Amino acid sequence: MKYLTIALTKGRLASKTLECLEKIGITCEEMKDKSSRKLIFVNEELKLRFFLAKGPDVPTYVEYGAADIGVVGKDTIVEEGRKLFEVLDLGFGNCRMCVCGPASAREFLDGSRQIRVATKYPNIAKDYFYNKKHQTVEIIKLNGSIELAPIVGLSEVIVDIVETGSTLKENGLEVLEEICPLSARMVVNQVSMRMEGERIKKLINQLREKSE
Ligand code: PRP
Repeated sequence: MKYLTIALTKGRLASKTLECLEKIGITCEEMKDKSSRKLIFVNEELKLRFFLAKGPDVPTYVEYGAADIGVVGKDTIVEEGRKLFEVLDLGFGNCRMCVCGPASAREFLDGSRQIRVATKYPNIAKDYFYNKKHQTVEIIKLNGSIELAPIVGLSEVIVDIVETGSTLKENGLEVLEEICPLSARMVVNQVSMRMEGERIKKLINQLREKSE
């Protein structure tokens, strides 16, 4: 039997995914060792291979077939726009993509003047402002700590993930508009879905039953 390769998003999503897999009897003890720098792990018995990648790279590995399956946030799937099948909402990592800023920035969202929007998600921000709101904005790509941008005057608002809302609150910012809900999703390579359909569908069904 061929190995099925599963790409996990390094960090919180990977730990949650391993918990889910454990519930259906798929374990990978090696992977739980937080001090290890190892990137790839094998479950010989089940002929599964797991590796850890940065979120935005997971859809890339899956589109090219370097991984048959991936677990990644919906935000990253939408932002990356890769060719793959999204097959399951895993029901964890729930959060929202939002336009945020100081309360005083609310008046800028009516399109009356051109504003700057800082974000790690330029494609999602562009789609929202241009195609949904029909508002012309300048998008500025950042790589993290996005909440800084309106505080130091880089932009009027940000497009970012809000989970508990505490980062916003502690920085004097708030949700101004909600773009969409997000959660962890399972994605599958389009060829793998055909070639290994039976094994992959079994896995999807087992995970679906447990997440319900
Ligand atoms: C994310 C996001 C917010 C924060 C939201 O950042 O960009 O900053 O979490 O969570 P909260 O609503 O529970 O406060 P992350 O920790 O992934 O790091 P980053 O700033 O490097 O993107």
